[in-house]
Amino acid sequence: MTMYTTLKKLLPQTPSVSGREHGIREVLKELMAPLCDEITVDAMGNLICLKKGSAAAPAKVMLAAHMDEIGFIVNFIDDNGFLRVAPIGGISYTAAAFCPVEFENGTRGVLAVDADKKAGDVLRPEHCYVDIGARSRAAAEKKVKIGDCCALLPSITRLQGGRVAGRPLDDRAGCAVLVEIARRMAAPADDIYYVFSVQEEVGCRGARPAAYSIAPDLALIFDVTATGDVPSAKPMAVKLGAGVAIKIKDSSVICHTELVEELIEAARAEKIAAQCEILTFGGTDTSAVQMTGFGCRAGALSIPCRYIHTGSEMIDLADLEAAVALAVAYLKGEKK
Ligand code: CO
Ligand code: ZN
Repeated sequence: MTMYTTLKKLLPQTPSVSGREHGIREVLKELMAPLCDEITVDAMGNLICLKKGSAAAPAKVMLAAHMDEIGFIVNFIDDNGFLRVAPIGGISYTAAAFCPVEFENGTRGVLAVDADKKAGDVLRPEHCYVDIGARSRAAAEKKVKIGDCCALLPSITRLQGGRVAGRPLDDRAGCAVLVEIARRMAAPADDIYYVFSVQEEVGCRGARPAAYSIAPDLALIFDVTATGDVPSAKPMAVKLGAGVAIKIKDSSVICHTELVEELIEAARAEKIAAQCEILTFGGTDTSAVQMTGFGCRAGALSIPCRYIHTGSEMIDLADLEAAVALAVAYLKGEKK
């Protein structure tokens, strides 16, 4: 199975907005079942898949990617059947305005903007509503109730040069990388815990208890990161297609220094395309995992991604391959 096929299997699915990840969790469970020894779902909903190691005293390695996505939750239905929604996660209303959305039960609508808003106005959540085409409140309530979640329509399109656009590549790209690592690590020396975490988009909430229960010796987090290679981008050294991004720092974590050096060295030795990442805004599960329990040696292998949190996120398949290759090379050669 190619990386693209794996990614495609994880997208599109029913919306799996933070706190309601069961749709994607079932798909991942099925993909991971033949690749590991034990599968558990913890109280928060994290999917934890253990592949046991062959070493006499195996170390515990946690590899994690989040399976939730950003979206909207219905908090009010007006007399005309329009739905007011609150954001779940870091929504850009500029990106979301007038995009189609889908609810878990398949109901579709459009995220519309109040008619008195003009081009250039800063859009706030209260300026937006979802129009599902209902003619009245009663008609709307037949399809949707308070607390239901929707997300921008999932999609995946192949572009030139091995690039792919769609959503939510944040972080199904990371989930696909984890599945692929599991396929290539059929007989690991160490115990490997593949963690598909919940509620990352609302503040890295799921990875923390998962890390607490595992108490890993080493953790690698796989998530997307921004790039500096589009018009008017903030200066940033990461480029799409230049390889897996070894995270040095983001605004919530400073990755374990020696681990970062070992990853850079492994990429150099194995001739795997890699670049160094410093993200001056945003964070990932890495910080939550690093600071849980007595703390652990944590790092992140990021997937460069343009247009994060829009309906058309963009990645390069070669970067995904490089993320898998570097993780496998490092885990096989790691000195403990
Ligand atoms: Co995100
Ligand atoms: Zn993410």
